[in-house]
Amino acid sequence: MKKIELHLHLEGAAPPAFVRGIAKQKHEDISRIFAADGSYAYSDFWHFLKVYEAATSVLTTPEDYARLTRAVLAESAAAGVVYSETFLSPDFCGGRDVAAWREYLHAIREAADAAEREDGITLRGIITCIRHFGPEKAKETALCAAETAGDWIVGFGIAGDERAGKPRDFAWSFDLAREAGLRLTAHAGEWGGPDSVTDALDALGVERIGHGVRAIEDRATVDRLAREGIVLEVCPGSNVALGLYRDWAAHPIKRLRDAGVRVTVSTDDPPFFHTTMAHEFDMLARAFGWEDEELQALNATALDAAFCDGETKDRIRKTLEAP
Ligand code: ADE
Ligand code: ZN
Repeated sequence: MKKIELHLHLEGAAPPAFVRGIAKQKHEDISRIFAADGSYAYSDFWHFLKVYEAATSVLTTPEDYARLTRAVLAESAAAGVVYSETFLSPDFCGGRDVAAWREYLHAIREAADAAEREDGITLRGIITCIRHFGPEKAKETALCAAETAGDWIVGFGIAGDERAGKPRDFAWSFDLAREAGLRLTAHAGEWGGPDSVTDALDALGVERIGHGVRAIEDRATVDRLAREGIVLEVCPGSNVALGLYRDWAAHPIKRLRDAGVRVTVSTDDPPFFHTTMAHEFDMLARAFGWEDEELQALNATALDAAFCDGETKDRIRKTLEAP
């Protein structure tokens, strides 16, 4: 089955062998972030963020990001993904300098265009500030976003440690992004509870929430999500791998859906969590008995909530419908 993915961190999708290869070329020793079997090694979410940043530290040029984009899209296309939105951080791409960021973006877009021609996968970018880097750096990131907003950079968001600061600290950045025409999403309700979700909605005016699953702990928050049509970018494999839920059966995606919340499914950082979009769909079928109808509904919601323009949506809709 073809799939739409809305929540994918580009660096977080880097295959470990790819990162090891680049580190070797640059004579950087980052062997500490890998387990004996070659996969990424981390103990919890906060350690995961450190390992993520260490892996990213070897990606230092636009050319590295072009190769990364190509490697990531090859994996996504192999898992059946035909349209993907990826989080991009000027923090890691040129240190939030607008001119440097433009060069990274140019390289990423060229690689994405090649993947579209060769692998039939369409990519769009969501510029993302990093919450634990603080509001001042987020403002610089938002300036990069405003400068490059358009038909390819289609959104603005926030990732990182949800326990650092408050959504309102980032309101200036989200206001600037909104004025530049970008659509908005925020990570919330992953490491923070239902209040974190309502804070993100109230302070940042986002239309999608990254994760958002812990809304399930408060009936009023679930009802609000359903009433306002907020779309959740749910990443069940990520949540289970990071220990938020004991196993797939304990994951609240079905209960959220049954309560009328608009849910979609993504991988977040697939090699870190030993998942792919194909694996996510398989596990939903196994854990909840979801069949074609439910899985197609995830695609339909994702396409509807995608930040790309209408023409692109029409084209992707035709691709989904083609045999
Ligand atoms: N950055 C990469 N993956 C993330 C996640 N699951 N939550 C917050 N920030 C992230
Ligand atoms: Zn994420």
